[in-house]
Amino acid sequence: MRQPGACLVGWSLVAEGVVDYQIGWRWWPGGGVLMFSIEFDRVARIDTYFLMKSFKFIDLFAGIGGMRLGFESAGGTCVLTCEIDSHAAETYKLNHASPSKDHVYAKDIFDLKSSDVPKHDVLVAGFPCQPFSIAGLRKGLKDKRGKVFEEIVRILVDRKPVAFLLENVKGMLSHNGGETYNKIMKSMLEDAGYTVKETVLNSMTHANVPQNRERLFIVGFRDASKSEAFQFPEKIKLTKAIEDLLRHEEAKERHFYTERYDCYEQIKRELKSEETLYQWRRQYVRENKSNVCPTLTANMGAGGHNVPLLKHGSKIRKLTPRECGLFQGFPENFKLPAGMAESRLYHQFGNSVTVPLISRIAQQIAKVL
Ligand SMILES: C[S@@+](CC[C@H](N)C(=O)[O-])C[C@H]1O[C@@H](n2cnc3c(N)ncnc32)[C@H](O)[C@@H]1O
Repeated sequence: MRQPGACLVGWSLVAEGVVDYQIGWRWWPGGGVLMFSIEFDRVARIDTYFLMKSFKFIDLFAGIGGMRLGFESAGGTCVLTCEIDSHAAETYKLNHASPSKDHVYAKDIFDLKSSDVPKHDVLVAGFPCQPFSIAGLRKGLKDKRGKVFEEIVRILVDRKPVAFLLENVKGMLSHNGGETYNKIMKSMLEDAGYTVKETVLNSMTHANVPQNRERLFIVGFRDASKSEAFQFPEKIKLTKAIEDLLRHEEAKERHFYTERYDCYEQIKRELKSEETLYQWRRQYVRENKSNVCPTLTANMGAGGHNVPLLKHGSKIRKLTPRECGLFQGFPENFKLPAGMAESRLYHQFGNSVTVPLISRIAQQIAKVL
């Protein structure tokens, strides 16, 4: 079987007060080697190199590339992107250059021939979740959108990557009394030749991102011993707070609530604290007591008042798309296409993943590839 290679990631730090010259290496807990040299004069320069396993992955149902950012940070190179929505693809392409001329862009997965999928080590897919969402229509696998799962299995069978990561809503686990996942989906993945592990992880407990977002993560390896060695990331402390991710200075007039909204008076009455985020739920306002952002969802782009609300001084506004990106752990310099309707940006961030959580899972996968 093909083995992933290795790549060297380096960075330099200039600091004051180092009193020795050293050169050496240490095992890096993430599964590589950390090499460093420290030179000092009056000012120290520290060069560090982290040897990461390099591997290739394909990014199915790629959206705006949240999964891609996570896997690239773990040493992966994307060799295929598949996304049907032209607006999501526009945001994706603005932020992710083709890493090589061999990189393939595909639109509809139903039109993607397995023979056109480049060789890869990891298949990555945050596939459409509506059929399984507890908030959705409970149409399950009969829904055409449910069929995309069969397309993932087709590519696994035909291309046999070493591992995969699938992401979906937590409700998929309990859909149809657990039968949809356990008896159909997991069996299909096992029949495709994989040993499968799944768990639900929350961005606020596992990624140091203050968003209450529980998602199901399914990881499979062709080699059972690799699956045994693989562990989902442990909990980490949440040190970031809502206020760290608010960018009041960037909010525009259109983000503020005024008398022009029917619900304004009620919202004004009920939004009391500046330290939390609120949600408008048709007839009432829900406060998030845990001091984190409520789950950002794709329907934020569907008009209405689905975007979380906040009080700033005497004013009330919704989060901006940029802030939604930050609450999904996207980098501050992630580009938003100029001229794209904000409703689309809200939809894209709600549909995406919490990037630092994907990075942590991807690192765990890369360790055992
Ligand atoms: C839950 S989102 C995944 C978002 C992605 N993980 C991200 O980080 O932005 C599912 C994506 O699948 C895309 N999609 C739905 N049906 C598809 C199809 N038949 N072929 C390719 N992409 C499809 C949707 O347009 C949507 O962007």
